Amino acid sequence: MKIGILTGGGDCPGLNSVIRAIVRKSIDQKNEVVGIKYGWKGLLEKETMPLTLRSVSGILPKGGTMLGTSRTNPYKQKDGSELAKKNFKELGLDALAAIGGEDTLGVASKLYGEGLNVVGVPKTIDNDLAATDFTFGFDTAVNIVMGCIDRLHTTAESHNRIIVVEVMGRHAGWIATHAGIAGGADYILVPEIPINMDEVCQSLQARHDRGKNFSIVVVAEGAQFRNEDLKTQEKKLDEFGHVRLGGIGHKVGSLIEERTGFETRVTVLGHIQRGGSPSAFDRVLGTRYGVKAYELIKDKQFGKMVSLRGNKIIAVSLEEATAEIKTLDLDLYDLAKIFFR
Ligand code: F6P
Repeated sequence: MKIGILTGGGDCPGLNSVIRAIVRKSIDQKNEVVGIKYGWKGLLEKETMPLTLRSVSGILPKGGTMLGTSRTNPYKQKDGSELAKKNFKELGLDALAAIGGEDTLGVASKLYGEGLNVVGVPKTIDNDLAATDFTFGFDTAVNIVMGCIDRLHTTAESHNRIIVVEVMGRHAGWIATHAGIAGGADYILVPEIPINMDEVCQSLQARHDRGKNFSIVVVAEGAQFRNEDLKTQEKKLDEFGHVRLGGIGHKVGSLIEERTGFETRVTVLGHIQRGGSPSAFDRVLGTRYGVKAYELIKDKQFGKMVSLRGNKIIAVSLEEATAEIKTLDLDLYDLAKIFFR
């Protein structure tokens, strides 16, 4: 077989682990592998590179993706899906592994519906893909944020300040909640629950009343006030209809300072959360996903996505995986709330 691999959407640590695993397993079984560069853009423009044992050697610990990525949506171009299918044929591909989040896999699911032999691998630091317990990239991001919260604690404590940390999480508060629990945050704001400044300020005040002169508040970039728009850096929509989020941390920080009188600073972690070397968990998960993706291709189980359920790697349908976003488990948020004081 000739197997294509592409990585689409925002990059994340662990992408190279998946690429390496698919290539190693495929070549072991005497197949040929080709990398499609820059996500769906590379398929539309036939921009490819051969993937060999040599080209994937040493990539396991590297963040980002050796194939490059983009947020190109073939369905936003005239006859884009026809062109994708034509190029798939002309490149002599038998199958394609698409590694991505809801957008990339949404395209994969539609192309499968149009007859393309595709399997999916779930990637995103946001961990908001349905039908899998975890996406790879999430664990690394949570560890990065936790480390930053640890550092912010020492400076907040030295200055008797409140520090608001804005983290990624467009639709879901997974990173905010996991990293907030792990880092001992004193309040966490997530997209799933409208922001209530009275509750935030009362909780911070209660901490101060019991002698704690500093606090850490974690805010997911997609958190918002009831009946207010999301805070954005830019209103322009990308090809999947997303705005560039950012700014809610500063808004929350200034309200806290105004209402409580406590000196407040704001830190926006941004793309630091997506950069650098993957954690051991993400390397192992990416490797398991890559091997399973190859097995699905070998068994012609197209239209499927690899998924982690409990400790097993299974196959689920791409359609099911992309039908809806996996928002935060509110029981976990309730647990985090125990420590908001
Ligand atoms: O989807 C993953 C994500 O990291 C979101 O959390 C964030 O809103 C977005 O990507 C940022 O995208 P970009 O890299 O285009 O700025």
